[in-house]
Amino acid sequence: MFEIGQGCEVSRRGFLGKSGLVVAAVGVAAASSGVLGLASRAEAKDTGYGKWPYKKLNPDEVAKIAYENYFDLWCASTVLGGLFTPLKQSVGGPYKSFPIESIRWAHGGLAGWGTVCGTLVGSGTAIGLITGDIDTAEAMTNDLMFYYAETVLPVYTPAKAMKAEIKHKTKADSPVCHISVGKWMQAEGAAFLTAERAERCARVSASIAMKTAEMLNAWADSGGKYTPVHKPLANVLNNGITSQNNCTDCHGVSVPPVPGAKK
Ligand code: HEC
Repeated sequence: MFEIGQGCEVSRRGFLGKSGLVVAAVGVAAASSGVLGLASRAEAKDTGYGKWPYKKLNPDEVAKIAYENYFDLWCASTVLGGLFTPLKQSVGGPYKSFPIESIRWAHGGLAGWGTVCGTLVGSGTAIGLITGDIDTAEAMTNDLMFYYAETVLPVYTPAKAMKAEIKHKTKADSPVCHISVGKWMQAEGAAFLTAERAERCARVSASIAMKTAEMLNAWADSGGKYTPVHKPLANVLNNGITSQNNCTDCHGVSVPPVPGAKK
């Protein structure tokens, strides 16, 4: 079995002494270089804050756990639980005491506000702790956001539906909860507070947990090196503003011009 990391000796001093200052330094470099510090990352080599030990996961098992616990934990926590429950068994250590319910607030696009899909908060939390490196976690979550936006979801289909049978799968073109669930509700003709919608989000949670397990396994296979599929901060660099690539979904035909963006 693959294993990296020795434990989680993350003292506050160690954290601030490393990542905190590095983040601050990169922030300053970003402000002055105007390219968001990407070019100056070379000088910020030591970004490790202590990775949690990892043993490769079985993505199917992760998906099943995430699916089955969705109805109690909802999207963010159930994804984290799908990833951490097997690690509690195989690794123990920090996974035993991490309260996965502590991010349940991220359901429904953060307490029902329809912003980012909570599954991505669950995945990002796991990725951050397991990779133990701010740049790797940034690159991996960026790729996961692209995957979420570009994939017809849910990918996961349970052997037996727990709440309801559903007919449709949809592509969100966005990691935004409101857009993602809205497009599916439109296709399915289902209201938000229904068994069908809950079933859909349970399956989306399983799909994202499964993809995250695959990504972490690939990262582990390559000895903790991660090759980004998409350029980190691609949307900011391309659009000149924190954004997704679906401007017209919200702005219709008249997308407002972005001050300072390249044409
Ligand atoms: C999730 C919905 C959503 C998406 C997607 C989105 N925007 Fe916006 N954007 C808004 C809202 C809401 C506002 C504020 C209200 C408004 O002015 O339309 C806004 C405001 C802006 C503004 C400020 C100027 C203004 O007229 O308020 C700019 C510039 C802008 N968006 C550009 C973009 C670009 C470029 C994209 C695609 C890369 C994009 N937006 C994608 C929802 C969105």
